[in-house]
Amino acid sequence: MSSEQTRVRQIRSKNPGFAGETGEFDLTEAEIRGTDYVGKRPLDGGHPAVAGTLPYQLAERDPEAPLFEGPYAERLEKILSRYPDRQAALLPTLHMAHEIRGHISPETMDEVARKLELPPAYVRGVATFYTMYNLRPVGRYLIQVCTNISCNLCGGEEVMEAFLEATGTEAGEVSADGRFTVIEVECLGACGFPTVVQINDRYYENVKPGDVPAILEKLK
Ligand code: FES
Repeated sequence: MSSEQTRVRQIRSKNPGFAGETGEFDLTEAEIRGTDYVGKRPLDGGHPAVAGTLPYQLAERDPEAPLFEGPYAERLEKILSRYPDRQAALLPTLHMAHEIRGHISPETMDEVARKLELPPAYVRGVATFYTMYNLRPVGRYLIQVCTNISCNLCGGEEVMEAFLEATGTEAGEVSADGRFTVIEVECLGACGFPTVVQINDRYYENVKPGDVPAILEKLK
C-alpha cells in the first residue's frame, strides 16, 4: 500500500460513520443497483419507484371486501407477531387494508381500529398523516407528477397540465373510464431527472409535455 493510500485510510478511519475496511470489490453498477436503474432512463415503461406502494385501484379490488378473513387473517397474525404491541402494527395493517380495498375509507379506519383495539381517532390520525394511503378511490393508474423545485424549473407544471388534458380529468379526480387519477406531488427523490412522474409503482423521468400521449398509450 502506498503512503498516500495509508494516509487516506487513516483519515477515513477518523470518520464516526466509517464502517471499517470492506476490501476490494469489483461489482458492476448493474450488479449493485439492478439493471432497471442503469443505462438509459427510459420513458417507455420507467423503472421501479423508490417506495413500494400499492396506491392504485385494480379492477378486482372491492372497496367493501372483507379485511381480516382467510389468507388475510393469517397475514394479520404474522404482522402482529412481528411487533411488540398492536399500536406498532398499525401501519402494516393499514397497508394490508389498502391493498385489499384500494383505498382507506373512514369505515375501513374504524374496522382496523376495532380489530387492533386502538382508539378510532388514533387510527384516523395515522391514516390521514401519510399521503401514501389513498383516502378515496383513485383510477387504475395513479399518475403523480412532481412539481417541486427541480421539476418545476424544467416544466413540471406543464407536464401536469398535459396529463390532465390528455386524461380529461381535474386534479385528484377519477377519469370517466376509471383508468386515471392525476395528482401533483412533492419531490419524488429523483431530482436529477426532471420532470419525474410516478405512475403506480414505476418512475418515468425526463418527461416533457410532448411525451405524455406516448406514455398513456403504453399503459394497459
Ligand atoms: S424535485 Fe422533482 S423529483 Fe425532486
